Amino acid sequence: MNDLTPNAFDYTDGDTDTNNSGEITLNELAARRLSRRQTLRGGSAIIAATLGGSVLAACDSNEGDASDPTPTVSAGAAGTTNAGRIVTLTGTASDAAAVSWTQTGGPAVTLTGAVGNTATFLAPSVAGATVLTFQFAAANGSTVVTATTTVTVSPAQLGFTAVAKNKLDVVSVPTGYKVQVVNRLGDPIAAGVPAYKNDGTDTDFARRIGDHGDALQWFGLSAAGARDDAGSTRGLLVQNHENITQKYLHPNGATAGARIEAEAIKEIECHGVSVTEVSEGSNRAWSMVQASSFNRRITPNTPMAFNGPVRGSDFLKTLFSPTGVAGRGTVNNCANGVTPWATNLTCEENWAGYFRRSGDGVRTAKETTALARYGVSPTASGSYGWSTVVAADAADTRFRRWDARASGASATDDFRNEPNQFGWVVEIDPYNAASTPRKRTALGRLGHEGAWPGLFVAGRKPAWYMGDDSQREYMYKFVSATPWVAVDATAADRLATGDKYLDAGTLYVAKFNADGSGNWIPLVFGENGITAANPTYSFASQADVLVHPRLAADVVGATPMDRPEWTAVNPATGEVYLTLTNGSSRALNLTDAANPRHYNDPKGGAAQTGNPNGHIIRLRETGNTTEAVAFTWDIYAFGAGVDLDPANINLSGLTADNDFSSPDGLWFGRSTNASGQNKPLLWIQTDDGAYTDVTNCMMLAAIPGTVGDGGARTVTNTAVGGATATQATRVGAAPGANLKRFLVGPVDCEITGVDTTPDGRTLFVGIQHPGDGGTVAAPGGHWPDSQATGTAGATVRPRSAVAVITKDDGGVVAL
Ligand code: FEO
Ligand code: CA
Ligand code: CA
Repeated sequence: MNDLTPNAFDYTDGDTDTNNSGEITLNELAARRLSRRQTLRGGSAIIAATLGGSVLAACDSNEGDASDPTPTVSAGAAGTTNAGRIVTLTGTASDAAAVSWTQTGGPAVTLTGAVGNTATFLAPSVAGATVLTFQFAAANGSTVVTATTTVTVSPAQLGFTAVAKNKLDVVSVPTGYKVQVVNRLGDPIAAGVPAYKNDGTDTDFARRIGDHGDALQWFGLSAAGARDDAGSTRGLLVQNHENITQKYLHPNGATAGARIEAEAIKEIECHGVSVTEVSEGSNRAWSMVQASSFNRRITPNTPMAFNGPVRGSDFLKTLFSPTGVAGRGTVNNCANGVTPWATNLTCEENWAGYFRRSGDGVRTAKETTALARYGVSPTASGSYGWSTVVAADAADTRFRRWDARASGASATDDFRNEPNQFGWVVEIDPYNAASTPRKRTALGRLGHEGAWPGLFVAGRKPAWYMGDDSQREYMYKFVSATPWVAVDATAADRLATGDKYLDAGTLYVAKFNADGSGNWIPLVFGENGITAANPTYSFASQADVLVHPRLAADVVGATPMDRPEWTAVNPATGEVYLTLTNGSSRALNLTDAANPRHYNDPKGGAAQTGNPNGHIIRLRETGNTTEAVAFTWDIYAFGAGVDLDPANINLSGLTADNDFSSPDGLWFGRSTNASGQNKPLLWIQTDDGAYTDVTNCMMLAAIPGTVGDGGARTVTNTAVGGATATQATRVGAAPGANLKRFLVGPVDCEITGVDTTPDGRTLFVGIQHPGDGGTVAAPGGHWPDSQATGTAGATVRPRSAVAVITKDDGGVVAL
């Protein structure tokens, strides 16, 4: 509680009243007084935090001695603050040999610098205005005089001035905040790996930070290096590496023609996931621990296990995996998820484009339907042409595997099924660098953006909420078959715990009804038309359903959405938020209540139609349970430039302080600090191309209300050419000042990936593909080298990296 505590019981009664040297500290004095009182009370414990000045004064037998002038004290005026902010108590005293602060009332806080005139504390989260009382005591000899003051803490509010939209080549944050950079593309993560030259000649990316950092997650460590869920100064960052900016990885861009093995290896290894230890040093300086034994790269070549209902099925069998129980690696890892047993869920998003199919052999009608529904195009050559590498070792299938043509005698003679090995949620144990990640097939195969859990309640089946990021795709939830047992949060075998909760359950898809209600429809073989008799695709088994949830969801009438991206769950209410980043295919006659806009937001004279700015929908489960099969919903916020029509486009009344476009990353503050308690903070990140004539991508902070805090509304949509149509929808209360722009990123970037330390005082933000708009000779930007001054040498290549943001006064970021 404060500095009185450690010494409070160290002293025995005896010489307490004989040492009036004036050098005695108040700490010691109070301890002795406490000890005497203990004796008087027969040794009953007294909590130091409740040690009142009046008690001390009443016990002071020397008060008024001529040799012991009585101090005068002031504890300062009463103050007010908000949750999550640093408060400084300043006392003044005369004729005092020692002074000290203690808390005497209200929710307990930790006082820093309690022995001295000024003490600080972090205002706790509160549901309503709450008074904290503090006592300032001054001692001279045996005389102690006290005064008290109060600090009234009100609920959390956004505590920063909005950052203006801009197109600078820096990460801009509010006044009072500092930006650092860690984990840049190419940074070495093992001993002996040379520093990154960043000129295209670097190799060995399986031991360097990958490219295009996306979702990230903090896992705390204790000082001794063990899992510590409260650890806020030493921990592991698990970050997805979604994709690459190919040209900057090579001296002069990729060599034309058939791909060269060494180039392809670099590009492949730049994908996947990194696990790195980071720590806070003096002056709040953050750095990565290059030689940490926790450091790990998971790449598209890392061994993987398949778990759940699809494990061992024919769908997964390939030349490399003839039994369909194992595979290699993970690719296009976008958003993420977590578990309370401290594992990371990495999600495979737009994997389809990596595969070659041009010149495919004979496929069954079912295969053709499935490949088309998942975007594995029959004309595709594979995003980076990796399958064209002629490997030096003919038995090396690391390149051939990206060739999904049916070319052999059977599926175990080629890689026709390799596309089925991707599109999964993959569980990683970050604390065990030797562990094999497990692909959790019960959660279905999608263009998985993320998989964020609902609230865990003992005895209730937990759920993970998931977006499938393509236009007109769906929102899903997986409900475990196993009710939550709280002690499993600290189980020693984390991946075995994953087996318990993530390998069996029900996959549901969302249907948003026009009246503001919604339904979760189970995707179960044999139910709701998901049968062999289905005319579009004849389902054969539950494994078939889980490999092809899109086809099953089509059958049951799920609601096509405007590219479902991240999900986030309010840790106080359990309400689920989902970003719908944009939808150019949302034609005038294809709107619905949950995707209600069609309009034109022209950019540089070119029309951008449909829903170019996106929106954020949210839902509340019926009965507030993850097991619910129904919900209510409304739209929390509509993206829009401040210049757009407030009646029909800028429906959330955005202003210059909070207008945004194309929300993608979405995350609530952790429940371990004031940003995730009572009225939690919501972070919104943009991956925008529609408003980038005005501003770079950004991150906003919000304190949202609840589902239903607004009402019904009808908008008039207008197509290019003037045709109109009306659409009824449900709009949440306008965010107003409870939504503000906290950060603007550098040129060309996407902001994606967000977490804080458990104390909320350090924020990690992923800056993806900055400066990717230029050429090797003249990069489009130079971040992070440009961070300090806004510029850098004209040929300095930009690098994806993690921005570390701290508040100068040490408070919770954004509050
Ligand atoms: Fe990888 Fe949907 O963003
Ligand atoms: Ca994303
Ligand atoms: Ca994106």
